[in-house]
Amino acid sequence: MARLLQLSDLHVVAPGARASDVLDTRALLRSAIDRLLGSLDAIGPLDAVLVTGDVSDDGSAASYDFARAELGRLDLPLLVVPGNHDQRDALRDAFADAAPMPREGLIDWVADLPGCRIVGLDTLVEGQGGGRLRVETLDLLGEAVRGSPHEALVVALHHPPLRTGIRFMDAIGLENSGALAGCLDGASCFVQVVAGHVHGVYHGRVGRWPVSTAPALCSAFALDRRVEAPVGFWTGPKGCAVIDTGPDGIWTAILLEDADGPYAF
Ligand SMILES: [Fe+2]
Repeated sequence: MARLLQLSDLHVVAPGARASDVLDTRALLRSAIDRLLGSLDAIGPLDAVLVTGDVSDDGSAASYDFARAELGRLDLPLLVVPGNHDQRDALRDAFADAAPMPREGLIDWVADLPGCRIVGLDTLVEGQGGGRLRVETLDLLGEAVRGSPHEALVVALHHPPLRTGIRFMDAIGLENSGALAGCLDGASCFVQVVAGHVHGVYHGRVGRWPVSTAPALCSAFALDRRVEAPVGFWTGPKGCAVIDTGPDGIWTAILLEDADGPYAF
């Protein structure tokens, strides 16, 4: 079993800027890392930090440098996939020495941890919000599933293969969830799919395998399925997730919001 800390949707900006002119995502990331550093003993030993995309909001080199430095404070191996806000080559440059990162092309990778294989998939289509899995990405996944030395496999991608009912997010979802389901259909190991993008906790399935989405580190989208639902974000609840991999493991969200306790029962 491997244990991962899943962080998602950091949306870091260049110095002096705010994401959507509202969120100081640099300060939010720094305070989240501070808080997580104080919680690591309670969480238990971790094997890696898995970042499921939208590391940057503006794609700037400065945003990636800051994110890399802050994530580095956790002193754990980093595994990173791009999101729709990311710039592939700027992300690659910043994390080249820290994460399994192809030198060119799509940022698809395979990482073997104790008892578990992690496969990172690149769904970024630069210039649009929605994501897509290319043929070469699906080929890599198929090969990774067939050749896995472990009984557990985690598939990490930014765009989840499920629909939330939030119209403005479903409009920029994953175009070809069916292709992912088909690719995983014959897997003989236990597969779980983890994603971000929707800035909230959702559980569903792709084919026969569970899908979980992590809360964002910077903001949240309300579950508002009305036709006239306002398009926009809320400042919270923010959070991340811990994944104990494998069929007996759990995926759990940690909300990074202020609360007092523990109080005795
Ligand atoms: Fe996204």
